[in-house]
Amino acid sequence: MTFKDQIDKSRLPEHVAIIMDGNGRWARRRGQERVFGHHRGVKAVRKVVEAAAELGIEYLTLYAFSTENWNRPDDEVSALMDIMIESLNVETKSLVDQQISLLVIGDLERLSDNVRARLLETMRVTSAGRRLKLIVALSYSSRWEIAEACRRIAVEAREGRISTDQITEDTVSAFLVTSGIPDPAMMIRTSGEKRISNFLLWQLAYAELYFTEKLWPDFGKEDFYKAVADFQKRERRYGKTSEQIAENR
Ligand code: IPE
Ligand code: IPE
Ligand code: MG
Repeated sequence: MTFKDQIDKSRLPEHVAIIMDGNGRWARRRGQERVFGHHRGVKAVRKVVEAAAELGIEYLTLYAFSTENWNRPDDEVSALMDIMIESLNVETKSLVDQQISLLVIGDLERLSDNVRARLLETMRVTSAGRRLKLIVALSYSSRWEIAEACRRIAVEAREGRISTDQITEDTVSAFLVTSGIPDPAMMIRTSGEKRISNFLLWQLAYAELYFTEKLWPDFGKEDFYKAVADFQKRERRYGKTSEQIAENR
Protein backbone atom coordinates (compact mmCIF):
# COMPACT_ATOMS: atom_id res chain seq x y z
CA MET A 1 0.00 0.00 0.00
CA THR A 2 1.36 3.40 -0.92
CA PHE A 3 1.01 6.46 1.29
CA LYS A 4 -1.44 7.90 -1.22
CA ASP A 5 -3.84 5.02 -0.57
CA GLN A 6 -3.76 5.75 3.16
CA ILE A 7 -5.08 9.27 2.68
CA ASP A 8 -8.71 10.02 3.51
CA LYS A 9 -9.71 12.51 0.81
CA SER A 10 -12.57 13.82 2.92
CA ARG A 11 -10.17 15.09 5.61
CA LEU A 12 -7.43 16.77 3.62
CA PRO A 13 -5.55 19.72 5.08
CA GLU A 14 -7.05 22.72 3.30
CA HIS A 15 -3.71 24.51 3.27
CA VAL A 16 -0.19 23.04 3.38
CA ALA A 17 2.90 25.21 3.77
CA ILE A 18 6.43 24.00 2.99
CA ILE A 19 9.89 25.28 3.85
CA MET A 20 11.85 23.84 0.94
CA ASP A 21 15.25 23.43 2.54
CA GLY A 22 18.47 21.55 1.76
CA ASN A 23 19.25 22.40 -1.88
CA GLY A 24 22.77 23.56 -1.06
CA ARG A 25 23.65 20.49 1.00
CA TRP A 26 22.18 18.21 -1.69
CA ALA A 27 24.55 19.71 -4.26
CA ARG A 28 27.62 19.86 -2.00
CA ARG A 29 27.22 16.17 -1.15
CA ARG A 30 27.57 15.51 -4.86
CA GLY A 31 30.63 17.73 -5.12
CA GLN A 32 28.65 20.34 -7.04
CA GLU A 33 28.02 24.06 -6.60
CA ARG A 34 25.03 25.02 -4.42
CA VAL A 35 23.24 26.43 -7.46
CA PHE A 36 23.04 22.94 -8.95
CA GLY A 37 20.86 22.03 -5.96
CA HIS A 38 18.57 24.99 -6.60
CA HIS A 39 18.06 23.81 -10.19
CA ARG A 40 17.14 20.35 -8.96
CA GLY A 41 14.88 21.91 -6.37
CA VAL A 42 12.67 23.20 -9.18
CA LYS A 43 11.92 19.60 -10.22
CA ALA A 44 10.79 18.81 -6.70
CA VAL A 45 8.53 21.86 -6.77
CA ARG A 46 6.89 20.60 -9.94
CA LYS A 47 6.23 17.15 -8.43
CA VAL A 48 4.85 18.46 -5.16
CA VAL A 49 2.59 21.01 -6.86
CA GLU A 50 1.21 18.22 -9.04
CA ALA A 51 0.74 15.92 -6.05
CA ALA A 52 -1.13 18.61 -4.11
CA ALA A 53 -3.38 19.42 -7.07
CA GLU A 54 -4.12 15.74 -7.77
CA LEU A 55 -5.01 15.12 -4.15
CA GLY A 56 -7.38 18.08 -4.01
CA ILE A 57 -5.47 20.33 -1.61
CA GLU A 58 -6.80 23.87 -2.00
CA TYR A 59 -3.82 26.00 -0.93
CA LEU A 60 -0.12 25.24 -1.10
CA THR A 61 2.40 27.80 0.15
CA LEU A 62 6.08 27.34 -0.73
CA TYR A 63 8.83 29.31 0.98
CA ALA A 64 11.17 30.04 -1.92
CA PHE A 65 13.30 32.95 -0.72
CA SER A 66 13.35 34.70 2.64
CA THR A 67 14.17 38.31 3.43
CA GLU A 68 17.26 36.93 5.17
CA ASN A 69 18.28 35.09 1.99
CA TRP A 70 19.15 38.51 0.48
CA ASN A 71 22.27 38.24 2.67
CA ARG A 72 23.61 35.27 0.70
CA PRO A 73 26.52 35.78 -1.72
CA ASP A 74 25.51 37.94 -4.69
CA ASP A 75 26.10 35.21 -7.26
CA GLU A 76 23.80 32.79 -5.41
CA VAL A 77 21.07 35.43 -5.10
CA SER A 78 21.26 36.29 -8.78
CA ALA A 79 21.27 32.60 -9.76
CA LEU A 80 18.13 32.09 -7.67
CA MET A 81 16.43 35.05 -9.38
CA ASP A 82 17.41 33.66 -12.80
CA ILE A 83 15.99 30.26 -11.84
CA MET A 84 12.78 31.99 -10.79
CA ILE A 85 12.38 33.73 -14.16
CA GLU A 86 13.31 30.59 -16.09
CA SER A 87 10.83 28.48 -14.11
CA LEU A 88 8.04 30.96 -14.66
CA ASN A 89 8.80 31.02 -18.40
CA VAL A 90 8.70 27.23 -18.58
CA GLU A 91 5.87 26.47 -16.14
CA THR A 92 3.27 29.17 -16.68
CA LYS A 93 1.47 27.30 -19.44
CA SER A 94 1.38 24.13 -17.38
CA LEU A 95 -0.08 26.06 -14.42
CA VAL A 96 -2.85 27.36 -16.66
CA ASP A 97 -3.50 23.84 -18.04
CA GLN A 98 -3.67 22.39 -14.53
CA GLN A 99 -5.98 25.24 -13.41
CA ILE A 100 -3.50 26.39 -10.80
CA SER A 101 -3.34 30.05 -9.85
CA LEU A 102 -0.16 31.68 -8.61
CA LEU A 103 0.03 34.27 -5.88
CA VAL A 104 3.34 35.69 -4.69
CA ILE A 105 3.67 37.05 -1.15
CA GLY A 106 6.60 39.07 0.13
CA ASP A 107 8.37 42.38 -0.21
CA LEU A 108 8.21 42.56 -4.01
CA GLU A 109 9.71 46.06 -3.96
CA ARG A 110 13.12 44.50 -3.37
CA LEU A 111 12.94 42.36 -6.51
CA SER A 112 14.42 43.55 -9.78
CA ASP A 113 11.97 45.02 -12.29
CA ASN A 114 12.15 42.03 -14.62
CA VAL A 115 11.56 39.43 -11.88
CA ARG A 116 8.63 41.47 -10.55
CA ALA A 117 7.16 41.95 -14.02
CA ARG A 118 7.42 38.22 -14.80
CA LEU A 119 5.74 37.31 -11.52
CA LEU A 120 2.90 39.77 -12.03
CA GLU A 121 2.38 38.46 -15.54
CA THR A 122 2.15 34.83 -14.34
CA MET A 123 -0.22 35.84 -11.55
CA ARG A 124 -2.38 37.60 -14.13
CA VAL A 125 -2.57 34.77 -16.66
CA THR A 126 -3.17 32.09 -14.01
CA SER A 127 -5.70 34.07 -11.98
CA ALA A 128 -8.70 32.03 -13.17
CA GLY A 129 -7.18 28.76 -11.84
CA ARG A 130 -9.50 27.28 -9.22
CA ARG A 131 -8.07 23.81 -8.65
CA LEU A 132 -5.10 24.76 -6.49
CA LYS A 133 -3.97 28.14 -5.21
CA LEU A 134 -0.19 28.10 -5.26
CA ILE A 135 1.31 30.76 -3.02
CA VAL A 136 5.03 31.44 -3.32
CA ALA A 137 6.72 33.31 -0.48
CA LEU A 138 9.48 35.33 -2.07
CA SER A 139 11.51 38.03 -0.39
CA TYR A 140 9.23 37.16 2.47
CA SER A 141 9.64 37.21 6.21
CA SER A 142 6.95 37.01 8.79
CA ARG A 143 8.29 39.82 10.96
CA TRP A 144 8.39 42.08 7.92
CA GLU A 145 4.78 41.12 7.18
CA ILE A 146 3.58 41.70 10.76
CA ALA A 147 5.39 45.04 11.05
CA GLU A 148 3.87 46.07 7.72
CA ALA A 149 0.39 45.09 8.96
CA CYS A 150 0.92 47.11 12.18
CA ARG A 151 1.92 50.16 10.14
CA ARG A 152 -1.16 49.90 7.94
CA ILE A 153 -3.53 49.34 10.87
CA ALA A 154 -2.00 52.38 12.60
CA VAL A 155 -2.71 54.49 9.52
CA GLU A 156 -6.33 53.27 9.48
CA ALA A 157 -6.66 54.22 13.16
CA ARG A 158 -5.04 57.61 12.65
CA GLU A 159 -7.36 58.39 9.74
CA GLY A 160 -10.36 57.39 11.87
CA ARG A 161 -11.38 54.47 9.66
CA ILE A 162 -11.00 52.01 12.52
CA SER A 163 -11.19 52.59 16.28
CA THR A 164 -8.47 51.02 18.37
CA ASP A 165 -10.94 48.96 20.42
CA GLN A 166 -12.15 47.38 17.19
CA ILE A 167 -8.75 45.86 16.49
CA THR A 168 -9.11 42.10 16.89
CA GLU A 169 -7.21 39.01 15.80
CA ASP A 170 -9.33 39.05 12.65
CA THR A 171 -8.20 42.62 11.94
CA VAL A 172 -4.57 41.58 12.16
CA SER A 173 -5.20 38.56 9.88
CA ALA A 174 -6.93 40.81 7.37
CA PHE A 175 -3.90 43.11 7.14
CA LEU A 176 -1.40 40.34 6.56
CA VAL A 177 -0.34 39.48 3.00
CA THR A 178 -2.24 36.20 3.39
CA SER A 179 -5.54 38.02 3.94
CA GLY A 180 -8.45 35.79 2.91
CA ILE A 181 -6.32 32.64 2.85
CA PRO A 182 -7.05 30.05 5.58
CA ASP A 183 -4.19 29.35 7.99
CA PRO A 184 -2.02 26.36 7.03
CA ALA A 185 -3.19 23.17 8.71
CA MET A 186 0.27 21.67 8.35
CA MET A 187 3.80 22.90 7.77
CA ILE A 188 6.47 20.67 6.28
CA ARG A 189 10.19 21.41 6.49
CA THR A 190 12.74 19.31 4.67
CA SER A 191 16.47 18.82 5.36
CA GLY A 192 16.25 17.96 9.06
CA GLU A 193 16.27 21.54 10.36
CA LYS A 194 13.67 22.05 13.04
CA ARG A 195 12.92 25.74 12.96
CA ILE A 196 10.45 28.17 11.42
CA SER A 197 13.00 30.66 9.96
CA ASN A 198 10.65 33.65 10.00
CA PHE A 199 7.90 31.89 8.01
CA LEU A 200 4.17 32.61 8.60
CA LEU A 201 4.60 33.08 12.36
CA TRP A 202 1.05 34.31 12.90
CA GLN A 203 -0.60 31.88 10.49
CA LEU A 204 1.16 28.77 11.82
CA ALA A 205 -0.19 29.26 15.36
CA TYR A 206 -2.03 25.91 15.28
CA ALA A 207 -0.38 24.18 12.34
CA GLU A 208 0.80 20.59 12.68
CA LEU A 209 4.55 20.63 12.13
CA TYR A 210 6.19 17.89 10.09
CA PHE A 211 9.95 17.58 9.77
CA THR A 212 11.77 15.22 7.46
CA GLU A 213 15.46 14.51 6.94
CA LYS A 214 14.97 14.38 3.16
CA LEU A 215 16.71 17.21 1.35
CA TRP A 216 14.37 19.25 -0.83
CA PRO A 217 15.63 17.98 -4.25
CA ASP A 218 14.94 14.40 -3.05
CA PHE A 219 11.42 15.20 -1.84
CA GLY A 220 8.81 13.68 -4.15
CA LYS A 221 5.14 12.88 -4.42
CA GLU A 222 5.28 9.89 -2.06
CA ASP A 223 7.05 12.02 0.55
CA PHE A 224 4.26 14.56 0.27
CA TYR A 225 1.59 11.86 0.61
CA LYS A 226 3.44 10.43 3.60
CA ALA A 227 3.33 13.82 5.31
CA VAL A 228 -0.40 14.19 4.63
CA ALA A 229 -1.08 10.66 5.92
CA ASP A 230 0.88 11.52 9.08
CA PHE A 231 -1.16 14.72 9.49
CA GLN A 232 -4.38 12.69 9.35
CA LYS A 233 -3.27 10.54 12.29
CA ARG A 234 -2.94 13.54 14.57
CA GLU A 235 -5.55 14.88 16.95
CA ARG A 236 -5.96 18.64 16.67
CA ARG A 237 -7.12 19.78 20.07
CA TYR A 238 -6.87 23.60 19.96
CA GLY A 239 -6.45 23.75 23.72
CA LYS A 240 -9.34 21.38 24.48
CA THR A 241 -9.05 17.93 26.01
CA SER A 242 -8.99 14.72 24.05
CA GLU A 243 -12.35 13.77 25.62
CA GLN A 244 -14.00 16.96 24.40
CA ILE A 245 -12.73 16.30 20.89
CA ALA A 246 -14.12 12.72 21.00
CA GLU A 247 -17.55 13.99 22.19
CA ASN A 248 -17.88 16.35 19.25
CA ARG A 249 -16.88 13.77 16.68
C1 IPE B 1 16.72 26.07 0.34
O1 IPE B 1 17.92 25.40 0.29
C2 IPE B 1 16.56 27.07 -0.77
C3 IPE B 1 16.66 28.48 -0.35
C4 IPE B 1 16.78 28.91 0.87
C5 IPE B 1 16.62 29.46 -1.39
P1 IPE B 1 19.24 26.02 0.92
O2 IPE B 1 19.90 26.85 -0.13
O3 IPE B 1 18.95 26.71 2.18
O4 IPE B 1 20.10 24.71 1.18
P2 IPE B 1 20.97 24.37 2.46
O5 IPE B 1 20.09 24.55 3.65
O6 IPE B 1 22.12 25.33 2.46
O7 IPE B 1 21.37 22.97 2.26
C1 IPE C 1 14.53 29.09 4.90
O1 IPE C 1 15.67 28.36 4.58
C2 IPE C 1 14.06 29.86 3.72
C3 IPE C 1 13.69 29.08 2.55
C4 IPE C 1 13.60 27.79 2.46
C5 IPE C 1 13.37 29.86 1.41
P1 IPE C 1 17.11 28.84 5.05
O2 IPE C 1 18.05 27.76 4.67
O3 IPE C 1 17.40 30.19 4.52
O4 IPE C 1 16.92 28.93 6.62
P2 IPE C 1 17.99 28.99 7.81
O5 IPE C 1 18.86 30.16 7.55
O6 IPE C 1 18.76 27.71 7.78
O7 IPE C 1 17.17 29.11 9.05
MG1 MG D 1 18.89 26.10 4.11
